[in-house]
Order: sequence, then structure tokens, then C-alpha cells
Amino acid sequence: MTEAAAAYRKVRRDLQETPRSWLVTGVAGFIGSNLLETLLELGQRVIGLDNFSTGHARNLDDVRARAGAARWRGFDLIEGDVTRLADCRKACAGVDCVLHQAALGSVPRSLLDPIATNAANVDGFLNMLVAARDAEASRFVYAASSSTYGDHPGLPKVEDVIGRPLSPYAVTKYVNELYADVFARCYGLESIGLRYFNVFGPRQDPHGAYAAVIPKWTAAMIAGEPVVINGDGETSRDFTFVDNVVQINLLAATTRSPDAVNQIYNVAVGDRVTLNGLYGELKRLLSPHHPRLADARPIHREFRAGDVRHSQADIGKARRLMGYAPSHRFAEGLLLTVRRHVEAARQPAAS
Ligand SMILES: NC(=O)c1ccc[n+]([C@@H]2O[C@H](COP(=O)([O-])OP(=O)(O)OC[C@H]3O[C@@H](n4cnc5c(N)ncnc54)[C@H](O)[C@@H]3O)[C@@H](O)[C@H]2O)c1
Repeated sequence: MTEAAAAYRKVRRDLQETPRSWLVTGVAGFIGSNLLETLLELGQRVIGLDNFSTGHARNLDDVRARAGAARWRGFDLIEGDVTRLADCRKACAGVDCVLHQAALGSVPRSLLDPIATNAANVDGFLNMLVAARDAEASRFVYAASSSTYGDHPGLPKVEDVIGRPLSPYAVTKYVNELYADVFARCYGLESIGLRYFNVFGPRQDPHGAYAAVIPKWTAAMIAGEPVVINGDGETSRDFTFVDNVVQINLLAATTRSPDAVNQIYNVAVGDRVTLNGLYGELKRLLSPHHPRLADARPIHREFRAGDVRHSQADIGKARRLMGYAPSHRFAEGLLLTVRRHVEAARQPAAS
């Protein structure tokens, strides 16, 4: 076992021995529900806050089924909205660590409705900072985004070199970082911002106009529907399996190193996969289950506004300061994800 894997195992063991109290906002969403699943597995006490705007009760049902009744008793859900300060205060009461995931994701959504995105992502973020500060939470870990690199062409992306934002969504995520920094300086609220790079894994929503590419294409291929690639398919991303994201959230919440807190980190694998490469890999993994895919071809259409061409992270800072080491490379994560999609497609339809 590597040194980093041993250190992460120790973090998990310490949490099991001395459970803590957590708030996960956006708990009914993709990343939030994966955080919840791991925290319950470790016997933690978890409050969840969600308004179910893009999250689903079925995600929580799935976590409950996996956690079992005893662990599930450690969880309390508050149905509420981060745009309401009173809901944030209620959720933060008595909480030790905050993992703030609630936001409206998607670049195209923010281009269509920048006001809604700003309300959830900026007003909601500020409310959460105020509530966490007043509740004296020991740590505020939050979902930032690789979109903050904007139009800066450099690769791989290094935390302190960013460009101009390319969408309202990117603005909101950058503003989060600025606010968190100011709350650390002015009020001493310890925070860590995690710039996620194209996260994927179980429970990511395949449906709707703003679905992410991996669940969307997987669902389309299983259903025998065409896959549409925006542009020539040579656009690339540092696709990051959700277990890596869970790992770094736990490291960020528990690190005692003064150098590690009040910082921003890239959360990725450090690899780059093109959309054409992703399509080929999905086809390879799904063809044994759906032989008709052997002859399938994607449809190409125009590039999408607001999308950056290439994205790849330098994960050296997270390695150095927090001992982060991705447990799953792209291909390993994709295999696990596809298996869950194939299993889910065999189940009767859920809510
Ligand atoms: N998935 C990615 O690739 C990715 C990449 C970069 C950043 N992020 C960020 O990670 C976080 C989680 O993303 P996700 O992929 O799990 O998305 P998701 O849509 O599955 O989850 C977001 C959750 O937040 C909830 N929510 C939204 N607005 C809310 C509000 N006003 N009040 C309370 N709850 C609200 C939604 O109902 C949902 O359950 C977001 O902050 C997102 O911006 C995600």
C-alpha cells in the first residue's frame, strides 16, 4: 500500500473511532449522496440539506439501501434552500464540518438563466459561510470548479494561474473562492476549496437538458439512442471518478496542517481523455451487454458555447499538502460506473 493510501485509511479509521458531526449540502445530488454514503459507512452523524431542485429522493433511497438501517439512523435530512439564511442556520447548528455541495451546476444552464445560478451559487454560498461562521463550524469545505480556469490556455492547470471566466457559472464558482478567502481573513473561518474536474460515477443524473456527458451517453447507448458529440470530439477532460472526490473531502475536513487550510486545490486524476476516446471506451464496455453498439457511430454537431477546449489538472498541490492520491484512474472508475448503469437499467423504473 502506498504512503498516501495508508494515510487515507488512517483518516477513515480515526473517524470511525471518534465520529464527528457533518453537514452535507446538496446531499440528494450526485456528489452529495456519495459523500453521505461514505460518511455513514464510517459511522458518522450527518445532517443533509437539499431543496431537490436537481437532486432526487431516489439517490437517498439508494444510500439507505446500501448503508443499512443502523447506519441510516445517523442521518437527518432538512429539506430547505441555501438561498434562505434561516435554513442554513438550522442546518449548521451543532455541526463540526461542513461539506458544501449545493449549487446549480452546468455551464449551459447558467447561460440561459444566470440569475437562478447566481442565487443558488453566490447568495446561497454567502448564506452558508455566515451560518457556518456563526455556528462555529471547525471547517468549511466547498465544491469549487475547474471552470475557474476560464480562457487560460495553460496545461496542466495549476491553482494560482487562472484566466477570465467563460460563463456565469464560472463567475459564481470564482466568487465562492473570493468569499471563502475573505471569511478566513476577516472572521477566521477555516475553509478549503476543491476545484472539481468533470466528476463522474454512480448516481450522476443521466436525464435532463443539463446532464453530464458520461451518464448521458451511457444511458443513450443502453437505450439504443444516438450519441451526440459537440464539436470534433477532440475536446478533452480530466474525468474524475467520484471516490477520488470523496477522498479529498475527507482529507480536507480533517487535515491539521496549517499550510493545507484556507487553500484551493485541483481535484482530478491528472490525465486527459478526449470525447472521442470516452465514446470508444463506453462502446467497448457496453457492447458485450448491447451487441448492436458494435455498429453504432456518434453524431457530431457544433461546439457548445462556454466550453473550454482542453482541461487537465496538475494535482501536485493536493498531493503535497494533503496527501491526496487518486484511488481510481479514469478507466477503473468508468468500469465501475458502467456496471452500476447496467444494473440500474435491469431494475424496474424508480421515481
Ligand atoms: N459534477 C461535476 O463534474 C462538478 C464539477 C465541478 C464542480 N461541481 C460542483 O459540485 C457540486 C455538486 O455537484 P453535483 O454534480 O453533485 O450536482 P447535483 O446537481 O447532482 O447536486 C447538487 C445538489 O444541490 C441541490 N441544490 C441546488 N440548489 C440548491 C439550493 N438552492 N438549496 C439547497 N440545495 C440545492 C440540488 O437539489 C442537488 O441535490 C456543485 O456545487 C457543483 O457546482 C461539480
